[in-house]
Amino acid sequence: MQIKNKKIRNASITAVGMYVPEKILDNKYFESIVETNDEWITSRTGIRERRIMENGATSDMAAKACEDLFKTTNVKPEEIDAIIVATVTPDMFFPATACLVQEKIGAKNAWGFDLSAACSGFLFALQTGASLVESGSYQKVLVIGSDKMSSIVDYTDRNTCILFGDGASAVLLEPSDDLNYGIKDSLLYVDGSGKNALNMKAGGSALPSSHETVDQKLHYIYQDGKAVFKVAVKGMADISYEIMQRNDLKSEDVSYLVPHQANLRIIDATAQRMGISKDKVMINIDKYGNTTAATIPLCLTEYYRAGKVKKGDNLILSAFGAGYTWGAIYLTWAID
Ligand code: UT7
Repeated sequence: MQIKNKKIRNASITAVGMYVPEKILDNKYFESIVETNDEWITSRTGIRERRIMENGATSDMAAKACEDLFKTTNVKPEEIDAIIVATVTPDMFFPATACLVQEKIGAKNAWGFDLSAACSGFLFALQTGASLVESGSYQKVLVIGSDKMSSIVDYTDRNTCILFGDGASAVLLEPSDDLNYGIKDSLLYVDGSGKNALNMKAGGSALPSSHETVDQKLHYIYQDGKAVFKVAVKGMADISYEIMQRNDLKSEDVSYLVPHQANLRIIDATAQRMGISKDKVMINIDKYGNTTAATIPLCLTEYYRAGKVKKGDNLILSAFGAGYTWGAIYLTWAID
């Protein structure tokens, strides 16, 4: 049972930043490498193009997103207390990508760690970061979603290669004594019975990398798309509705749904269940595809910078992904 605690302070997002690589792969490109077509990809997923990082790793994108964030705030890297990197494509198993980001941005007083929750990674990291801030022990926490999905995609598998892209985005969490703003509630879940539907089988302790695992392409993403779609469409819609219910939010109280961008049909079904219109749904799947942990903060950054999100707006963030993992967060936007 996830209890709504009485808080003495909230954690608020006080700055945002993003990075997407320059190289674009559009749907036409995929027509030249696998048997697919633009019409199929657009109508089944909503994706038109995605970005690909040619040189560099997840930590490089994450560091660039942080540098972009620091340009917009007076907070200095050395003031950061903690760095949480949500990712399924860490630069290495260890050290954690958070350590590499710490060095790259010069956050010399920070501790940090990586958080692995696939497409729900940003939500899990945001709630974790918020708890650090609400505890009173930490004042400035960077929460980053960064994934170089192109490093684990099999570009001969049409079922998955068209879906994913690379990108990173970061938010800064700081305490807010005014409880009208900031992160107000979260509902987060895991269910390991979904482990066979979406995974990367090799390279871990269960199946260490070997010639055989590479020959069998087990170091790439595997997804049973249909099975995941079925549970994702219900899971994301239900959790988004549930968090509205438990916070007495009616459709008209929600300024934006900020959904994980895996499939436009899942996003549409979630909005429908919440009773909110399409113009109140943040979308960037057409430009970036599924960037896993980065989709939600990329949406937040782009919509905020476009002047579409205002201080006081109520946002429902929601996601569903491998694990299974899923969840929703209710927050009130705190930046002017
Ligand atoms: O972000 C983490 C969570 N992940 C998700 O939420 C993803 C959930 N799943 C999905 O979004 C969808 O299942 C997909 C977009 C992956 C696939 O869409 P679908 O409507 O479920 O298609 P399908 O897998 O049922 O495949 C329908 C047909 C199949 O052909 P047959 O068996 O009917 O002859 C596939 O082989 O489409 C075929 N197909 C393709 N055709 C053209 C699969 N991929 C492609 C492709 N181009 N790229």
